[in-house]
This record gives sequence, C-alpha cells and structure tokens, in this order.
Amino acid sequence: MDKMWAGRFTEPLDSKADDFNSSIHFDCRMAEQDIKGSVAHASMLANKGIIGKDDAEKIIAELGNIIEDIKSGKLPIDYSAEDIHMFVEAELTKRIGDVGKKLHTARSRNDQVALDIRLYLKDESAKIIEQIKTLLDAILTQATLHKSTIMPGYTHLQRAQPITFAHHLLAYGMMFTRDIDRINDAVKRMNYSPLGSCALAGTTYDTDRYLVAEKLGFDGITLNSIDGVSDRDFCVELLSAFATIMMHLSRFSEEVILWSSWEFKFVELDDSYTTGSSIMPQKKNPDIAELVRGKTGRVYGDLMGILTVLKGLPLAYNKDMQEDKESIFDAIDTVKQCLDVFPQMIKTMKAIPENMLKAAQKGFINATDLADYLTKKGIPFRSAYKTVGQIVGYCVKNNKVLEDITIEEYKGFDNNFEKDLYDAIDLHNCVESRISAGGTGLASVENQIEYVKKYL
Ligand code: ARG
Repeated sequence: MDKMWAGRFTEPLDSKADDFNSSIHFDCRMAEQDIKGSVAHASMLANKGIIGKDDAEKIIAELGNIIEDIKSGKLPIDYSAEDIHMFVEAELTKRIGDVGKKLHTARSRNDQVALDIRLYLKDESAKIIEQIKTLLDAILTQATLHKSTIMPGYTHLQRAQPITFAHHLLAYGMMFTRDIDRINDAVKRMNYSPLGSCALAGTTYDTDRYLVAEKLGFDGITLNSIDGVSDRDFCVELLSAFATIMMHLSRFSEEVILWSSWEFKFVELDDSYTTGSSIMPQKKNPDIAELVRGKTGRVYGDLMGILTVLKGLPLAYNKDMQEDKESIFDAIDTVKQCLDVFPQMIKTMKAIPENMLKAAQKGFINATDLADYLTKKGIPFRSAYKTVGQIVGYCVKNNKVLEDITIEEYKGFDNNFEKDLYDAIDLHNCVESRISAGGTGLASVENQIEYVKKYL
C-alpha cells in the first residue's frame, strides 16, 4: 500500500523495514474502536464547522459500512498497510474519494492510537470482569455446599488449625472481588479522552474535545496534550491487575493440584477437566490447573515488557510505544483463556469430605484449642501454650493423639484439666467456636457468602 507520507520522500521504505515497522497484524483487532473514535471525531468536526455537515455524514456512513464489511469478512484486512488507522483511512478514501481525506483534520495517529487502545481496554476489561464474576459464582456454589466440611488449615504447608472448606474457598472469593475492584480503579483513571491532543501540542482548530469525550463515554479529557499522547500508565496498571488475577489463579491452581494428588485426595476433578497419560494407565492429570499456573509467567512477562518499553522514553510519542499493544493483548488473551475454563473446573470439582476430615484428625490440629481451654480457666496463654507443647511431645513419643490420652494423664500435666476438655478439642467444636469476625465459624462463613453474593 502506498504511504500517506510518501510525498516527502524520494525512495520507498525498504520492504523488510516496512514489515518491521508495520503493526497491522496485531492492531487490526482495534478496528471497531478505531472507527468508533473516527465517527465521534468527524461528528465533532462538523459540529464545530471545521468540515461540512454533508461531508461528515458521508464519512460517518461509510465508516459504518467499513466496520460491517470488516466484521463480515467482506473487507479483508490489507496487511501491507502500516497500521489499522492507515488502513481504515485509506479504505474510506478509496470508497468516498477526497471527502475521506478530511477525516484526519485536527488529529494525529498519536492521539488516535492513544484513544483506540483506551477504548479497546475498556471493552476488554468489562469482559474480564464478567468472567471473574462467573468464577465467583463457582466459588459460591462450592462454598455453600461445604459450609460445614472440615479440613486442615495450613501454615508452612503443615497442618495448623481446623477450618471449613467453604472458608478456604472464600479466601479466593475475597481475592477475586479485589481483582474486579482493581480493574475498575484502573479503568476509572484511564477514562479520559486523549483525542485532540494531536501530534503532541494540540491544534490550531477550534475543536471541542469535551464533545468527543462525551460521545465516547469518557469522564473527561486528558488535560495536557503531551501527556495525552505519551501516557501508557493505564496499560501498566491494567497489566498489573491482570498479573494479580493470574497470581490468584495460580495459587488456586496449585492447591487444586495438591488437593487432587493421592497424597491429599481432598478433591476429585471432573474427568472433563483432566487428562490421561500416554503411558501410565492409572493417571488422571490436572493439566488445566497446571496450564493456568504456567501461563501466569507469560502475563508477568507482559507486565515486565511494558514497564521496560516505557522506561527512559523521552516525551512525547516514540515508535517504541507501538510495543505496548502486543504485551497487553497477550495478557488479555491469556487471562480470558484461563477464565474461560477455570470457573467450570472449580464448579464441577468434587470435594471428598471424609479425606479432609481424616487429614484434620492426625496432626494435633486442635492443640491451639487445648491451650485456649486452659487459658479460659485462668492460665496465662503463654503458660498454657507451653503445657500443651509438652503434651504434644508426650503424644509423639507414645504414638498417640490428643484425643487418646486419659484425663488422668492430662491432670498430670495440669490439674485444671477436666473431662470437658474432650469437647473443646472435638474438631467440629473447634471450628464452631471460632466465633471471631472473619473466622472459620459458620456465622462468619455465611456472612462471607452474603458479601460475595451482594458484591455480584
Ligand atoms: N501504529 C502506531 C502505534 O501503534 C500508531 C501511531 C503512529 N504514530 C506515528 N507517529 N508514527 O503506536
């Protein structure tokens, strides 16, 4: 395709350099946003008398046809164009002649691309938020089923205190609500229109940037034209929100992988979210969870990539900034792919409460409760803690657990022990008596379920 800027040059761009320079292979996915921005721009130009109303009408109508034709496949993307902005403008001029050439009045590709990417990210962010909501819904389904299912809670991956499966899952629920908040926060800061910043310094035309911003659903305009075309903070912020989502998905995946191993067997993944082995007939592998964990690295890389591209860039636009797109597009695709399969994997996963309970019974997981028992009888916590430590040592030596030793043996350690200690260390009671706000007790878990439901 001939270059718009060919007039200034005597030699054409080297063909390899041309390919290298071109971004249409990836920025063609912003065709819809590009056209939406152009429609708003043309209508503002007419409104301000910068171009004729008839011309604007022609431009707007044809831009509508162009996007329809791109979507239906009638208009194939010409990959010899430099980018999607040039492609659309050239096609417009091809179709309506010189009138099409008026569209780029009081605009530069620098503010155009800054606009398109914001519009695109706004659309994609909304889709990702919907996907996270589906995941929250899957978490709610499991949590509601397992409000009283006891499992070991861990610290250092050592059995620590009994909790319910619902409580554990709802921890992820909280993370994913924050992920939605984080995206919304970033979108709020991004939601200012840069169009009209032009190349970097604004324009001599009496434009109405506020009108364009309003037409496109922005909260206002970027106030400094140099910043308008140079700012990619919103890419960094959104990518960081996406990297955090992946971090959460990866931690969740890691636990699902552990839980479905024979060593734990707390859950059984549905056949539809596992694979077999090509050699070991017994295998049922959690590939989906593993891939989600693995893909987290890509999105971290995308974040690092964009931070590095922006580091040390002088103001205003530099071609380096074309590199913003592939990393953020890759991150969006990856997050969306993961969120496309992950919720259903969680929803169809079967918990095995017997195994969770068995695991909770064998690790002195109720030792804190035994110490609390003594403390409630007036023994300072540190002293009670020490006594229970000695009891655990005694059990380990004699191959017993806390439930096995007799009241006489207990009294040998501290005379305050009475028979009701056995109730205090019963796992169901341990969970139920954790009445503090946000704890694993039933009221708190129900409260958390309500919170997530309301959030949705
Ligand atoms: N394809 C370019 C990009 O993505 C569009 C902006 C080009 N501007 C310029 N001055 N060459 O960044």
